[in-house]
Amino acid sequence: MPISTKKRVLRSTMRNEGSMKNNRVWVAPSILTADFSEIGREIKKINTADMIHIDVMDGMFVPNITFGPKFVADLKKCTRKPLDVHLMIGRPQRYIDAFIKAGADYLTVHYEACGSDLNTVLKDIKAAGVKCGAVINPLTPCEAVFDSLAHCNIVLLMSVNPGFGGQSFIDSVLGKINIMREFIDANKLKTLVEVDGGVNEKYAPLCAKMGADILVAGNYVFGAENPKSVITELKKLRKK
Ligand code: DX5
Ligand code: ZN
Repeated sequence: MPISTKKRVLRSTMRNEGSMKNNRVWVAPSILTADFSEIGREIKKINTADMIHIDVMDGMFVPNITFGPKFVADLKKCTRKPLDVHLMIGRPQRYIDAFIKAGADYLTVHYEACGSDLNTVLKDIKAAGVKCGAVINPLTPCEAVFDSLAHCNIVLLMSVNPGFGGQSFIDSVLGKINIMREFIDANKLKTLVEVDGGVNEKYAPLCAKMGADILVAGNYVFGAENPKSVITELKKLRKK
């Protein structure tokens, strides 16, 4: 890696650690709601965010189809932000290598898609040098992934049924954020709690209060007249 790139990576890591110390939430806009015909311009609108959330859907695990590794590789060329790739695909182990090669910095896989292979898939992602995470749907209890949390950099709680942006936040997930936070703290784990779906001005503060570390927001950010001001507001939220 050239020295200038190393310095940049170091500086951005230090910035991230700094922001964790001052206890604010990280903001991860979901590009699902962006205008793909203007993707370079859309990415510039969110260059104050902490990471970029990329929803990969296969039309089988969820009833929608989005993009594959090439799109992720192309995005990597227009931003230095960490790419948070959320795989909503069946048997995700088939595509782990492809998305890592494409430039994913965080790769999250659904418990519902991996079943008993979840820990193996998480370990494979980690072994490739990429941060990994387990995702659970709104109806899946937190307990389903408790045994996997020690392997996870992130645990992603879906607050809508996966498949589409612009849905309403499911209230019962607020309690799950709290359960997950307490389990992580009680077991002295470092896993970050990410919440995805329907996050807006009403639910973002509630998620932070319950102990979320990272908030994904699609419509709330890209549907705004000024996405940067929405990101600024979200960055003001302090965690529990
Ligand atoms: C839903 C996706 C979410 C979605 C969030 O399947 O995983 O990331 O894009 O979009 P909003 O914030 O509009 O619900
Ligand atoms: Zn997502």
